[in-house]
Parts: sequence; C-alpha cells; structure tokens
Amino acid sequence: MKSRIIAFLSLLFLVFSGGAVISLLYITSTTAELKKIITLHSVEILRQDLIIRIQNVERDLLTSRSELEGSLDNVVTKVGDLNRSIQGCSECHHSPLVSRKLSDITGYIMKFEKSLSSYITTTAGGPRIKELKMEAYAIAEELLKVTLEMSLIADQRLKERTQEALGTVKIAQRTLLLTLVISFLIGLWIAVRLINRILRPVRELIGMSRKIGSGDLGNKTTYSDDTEFGELASAFNDMSTSLRQMQEQLVHTAKLAAVGELASNVAHEISSPITNILGYAELMREETDIGNIMKDLDVIRSESMRARGIVRQLLEFARKMPAEMEEVNINILLKEVIVLVAPRVKNSGISITEDYSDLHCVMADPNQIKQVFLNVLNNAVEAMSEGPADRVKVLSIRTSNLDWGVSVEIADTGCGISGEVLPRIFEPFFSARKVHGTGLGLSITDKIVQNHKGRIDVRSEKGRGTTFSIYLPAGSTLCKEK
Ligand SMILES: Nc1ncnc2c1ncn2[C@@H]1O[C@H](COP(=O)(O)OP(=O)(O)OP(=O)(O)O)[C@@H](O)[C@H]1O
Ligand SMILES: [Mg+2]
Repeated sequence: MKSRIIAFLSLLFLVFSGGAVISLLYITSTTAELKKIITLHSVEILRQDLIIRIQNVERDLLTSRSELEGSLDNVVTKVGDLNRSIQGCSECHHSPLVSRKLSDITGYIMKFEKSLSSYITTTAGGPRIKELKMEAYAIAEELLKVTLEMSLIADQRLKERTQEALGTVKIAQRTLLLTLVISFLIGLWIAVRLINRILRPVRELIGMSRKIGSGDLGNKTTYSDDTEFGELASAFNDMSTSLRQMQEQLVHTAKLAAVGELASNVAHEISSPITNILGYAELMREETDIGNIMKDLDVIRSESMRARGIVRQLLEFARKMPAEMEEVNINILLKEVIVLVAPRVKNSGISITEDYSDLHCVMADPNQIKQVFLNVLNNAVEAMSEGPADRVKVLSIRTSNLDWGVSVEIADTGCGISGEVLPRIFEPFFSARKVHGTGLGLSITDKIVQNHKGRIDVRSEKGRGTTFSIYLPAGSTLCKEK
C-alpha cells in the first residue's frame, strides 16, 4: 500500500511539474516578445525624430542663401545626423520590407548629400544655384516620402507583433489554467482511488467482525491482495477459523459436562425414593402385623409414585415438544389453569386478584402454555404456603397488550427468592424449596416460552414476594372471548 501511495503521489507531482514547465516556457517566450515590443515602441520615437529632422533639413535648405538664411553648415551637420539615425534604425528592424525601405532611405540620404555638396560648392550664378537648390529639395522630398512610408509599414508591423504577443500571453494563461484543472482532476481521481482502496478492505473487515461478534464464527472474508490489508484479512480469516474450532471444542465439553450433571442429578433424585422403597421392603420382611405391613406398603406405594413422577418430569423435560400451534386467547387459558389450582389456593388461605385486558390473539400450543402457567402458579402457591401464618397471602394475576405481543404477570406475597438463588432458578434440577421438588418446573417453563419466541422475567425480594412476567408475541387482532 505504501508503494502505491508513493506511486500515486509521484504521478501527481509529475503532472504538476509538467504543467509548470510548459507554463514557464510560454511565460519566458512571452516576456522576450514583450521586451522586443517595448524596444520597437522606443524605435517609433526615433522614426518620428527622423521625420522631424528631415523636415528641419528641408526648411534649412529652403531658407539658405536668403534673408532668413539658415546656415548651410547646419544643414550638412543635420544630414550627417540623419545618416547616423538611419544606421540605428537598421540595427532594430529585421523585417525585409522595412529593411528594404531603410536601404532606400540610406540611398536617398547619400544622393541628398551629393546634391547638397554640388549646391554648396557651386560658383555659378543665381538661376543655376536656384536650380541646384530645388534639385536638392526634390531629393529631400523623396527622402521624406520614403521615410514616411517606412514609418507606416513599421507601425503596422509593430501593431501585428503586439497582437501576436498578446495572443501568446493568452495561450500561456490558458495553459496554466488547464494545467491547474488537469492536476486538480488527477489529484481528485487519485484521492478517490486511494480512499476506495483503503476503505474497501476496512469495510470488509468491519462487516466480518460484526458477523463474528454476532456469533457467526468461522466466517471468512474473500478480500485478498499483496498489501498490508491483504495480510490483515488473512490474519482475520485464521482468527475466525480458530475461534470456530475453539467454540466447537467448548460446546463439546459443555455437552459432556451437562450430560454428566444430568446423570448425577437423575441418580440423586431417583435414589432417594428407591432407598426408601428398599428400606420399607426390608422392614416388611420382618413384619408380622398386617396393619404395619399395610402402612409399609403405603409408604412403598407413595415413594414409587414419587419416583414415577420424577421420571415423568424428566421425560417431559427431555421431550422435543413439537408444538401444535393455534390461535389462543391467553386470558381463557389462564382461567382454566386457575380452576386447577383453586382447591390448593383455597386450602392455603390465599386470595386471588385477577385483572384481564382484552388481549391480542397469540399463536401457541394451548397445552404447553397451560403447563407454563401451572408451573408458575404452583410455585407461587408453594412459596406462600411456606411463609409465616400471619402473612397476607395474595396471588395477583394481570394480563395486558404490548406493542409486539401480550404480557402475563403473576405476583405472589410469598417467601421471595434470595439474590444468590435467583440466577439459578431456571437451571434443570435446581430446587430451593423446603419440601424439595424436582427442580424441573421452571426450566421446562423457560424452554416452552422460548420455543414460542417469548421471554420470561422474574423480580423478587426475599421475604416480600415474587413477580413472574411472561411475554409472548401476538398479532394485532383482538381475541374473542369464547
Ligand atoms: N414464586 C416463587 N417464590 C419463591 N421461590 C420460588 C418461586 N418460584 C420458584 N421459586 C424457586 O425456584 C426454584 C426452582 O423452581 P422450579 O419450579 O424449577 O422447581 P421446584 O418448584 O423446586 O420443583 P418442581 O420441579 O416440582 O417444580 C424453587 O425450588 C424455588 O426455590
Ligand atoms: Mg415448581
């Protein structure tokens, strides 16, 4: 990944540098062109100066040998100046047309110098002098004309070159702008690609961690490449595989432990009535009194019944319990179970309060749900029978609708459950009653409720009472009271 980032950044640097070099070249050539134009503008002043000088020479020539007489020496000096000026111009101008005009001008200046020399040195009389003067003047006029033409052409050329230079400046501007835009787009593309390259494996690994976290051990990512992320993904896959193996090992160990515990619990539960049966059978062998024999037989019978009850409960617990689901009204099931426990309730001096809401229908196996209520109600009655005689014994039953189902609350004012016992009451074979039960009632209850995708909660305070809340999922239609 490191080498890819370096490669991407180098590419970006190259694009930037390339753009910068092209722009620099344009700027350098434009600067040189602008410098030339500035020089040409200053030459323009020289050209104007040349024209003025020619006009001065003409004026001096016309006034020579008259009352306004200009000095002839002056004229000669100025023509010499003209010659030097024209040499200066030749150094600046390189266009063939202007160069040709400049050489014409040089020719006319030489001609003018010659004609001037004849005019100055002549010893002839008035009309000849005038003739020579006019000849020189005519050459000066020609010189002025050619100079003006040259000036016009040079001016035109200057304008063209200025336009060209401005065009080059615009191209330089555009190149710079284009370089910036292209560099920005390439930078953006690189950033998006880099982010995607980094985020894709991270997202994969997050998804996989979530799956493993939710218990789907052994889940593997298909992501693989030769970067550090690829290494991380393969380490994750290894971790996931070993987690799965460890989980399988743990489940296997837990199963073995559960089977061992179950076997020892069953043996313990059954051994007590069997020991009693054996003991009483031994007694009977020595007994001669028929009355005593009958009493021993009653004990043997009741202990045999106890053993059979334990075996039945055990079978109930171990049964796969295929549910026969139908639409049921929980209120009705509850009332039917209350009828079953009513005699015991009455004998124990317990009063019952019932508060039923119009419940939504529940899809459930009615016999299994009745078993749930029976177990919880029996425990409540037993908890209240065990307590002191002056305790107020009230069994409160309340049903209500939830967002997603129904709730049944069964509260008693019995002995309550201590903090140490409370977490164990749903364990199979756990019983903390004075008169020991099998300890299977609540574990069967919990199993049935879970099979119905429901939940059972318990709140209890030692010495004050216990409340069991049973929640079952339900539809949204109200159940008819049948
Ligand atoms: N309403 C209650 N008040 C006080 N203790 C309770 C209550 N319900 C359950 N318990 C405690 O939880 C233990 C487990 O209950 P569970 O019904 O599983 O077994 P059990 O009643 O002892 O035996 P059985 O299998 O005959 O029902 C009970 O022994 C008792 O100590
Ligand atoms: Mg019980």
